[in-house]
Amino acid sequence: MSHRLQLLIPAAGMGTRLGADRPKALIDLAGVPLLVRTLRRFADLDLADGCIIMIAPQARAEFEGVLRAHFPAMRAQLVDGGKERQDSVRNGLAALDPATEIVLIHDAARPFVSADSIRASADAAAEFGAATVAIPSIDTILVSDGDAFLADTPDRKTLWACQTPQTFRVEVLRYAHEIALREHFTGTDDASLVQRAGGKVKLVMGSPLNFKVTTPQDLALARCVIEGGLA
Ligand code: CTP
Ligand code: MG
Repeated sequence: MSHRLQLLIPAAGMGTRLGADRPKALIDLAGVPLLVRTLRRFADLDLADGCIIMIAPQARAEFEGVLRAHFPAMRAQLVDGGKERQDSVRNGLAALDPATEIVLIHDAARPFVSADSIRASADAAAEFGAATVAIPSIDTILVSDGDAFLADTPDRKTLWACQTPQTFRVEVLRYAHEIALREHFTGTDDASLVQRAGGKVKLVMGSPLNFKVTTPQDLALARCVIEGGLA
């Protein structure tokens, strides 16, 4: 990868579904903060020309302490996140080094992403402009009518579950965010904003182990993954 690439790590969420009393990225996962486990996945790759981490402003000192303790040599910039994930990413985008060509976004809450997925996502963005890691849905997905009755059952072959990293040529992502902001659209990820703005997004094969730590059950599962040496 010869393009100038910067890493954006949304880490400003409060972990409501986890029932945490602090930002989810700072909670302990088998001895170290979740954020540290996630950043370790990138530290050895030598892929990025810098890293921007979006944080909850009230926890800035704690985030700084964690980075100092675990990654003293990392060129990381801490940027205040916003109300929704999309707001946090927009703040991160505004802080990018102007020379950046490719931006790779990865949730702090996905600590088991593989090096292969990271590289494949970055390569696909360089080739196609935008890419997201995703996995084909194993479950049949039901659409409800809003009243918990079945409205539709889309063909499973077309359904994928979204993951990160999502990787973009900078101008593609900036344009998509501008459109979303102008049209007051809020999505749960960035690839959907690009697709909505008329861009093509390549799907890159991920792994079930790249799950997002969201609930207390996910956290228990994450501990098992580490103890079992699965990722
Ligand atoms: N995130 C963010 N800014 C927000 C909300 C979320 O940077 N305003 C980040 C989270 O820190 C996380 C990723 O986006 O790494 C995915 O979000 P999610 O799993 O929903 O985390 P939380 O918002 O913390 O969890 P919850 O929705 O249960 O509160
Ligand atoms: Mg959230």
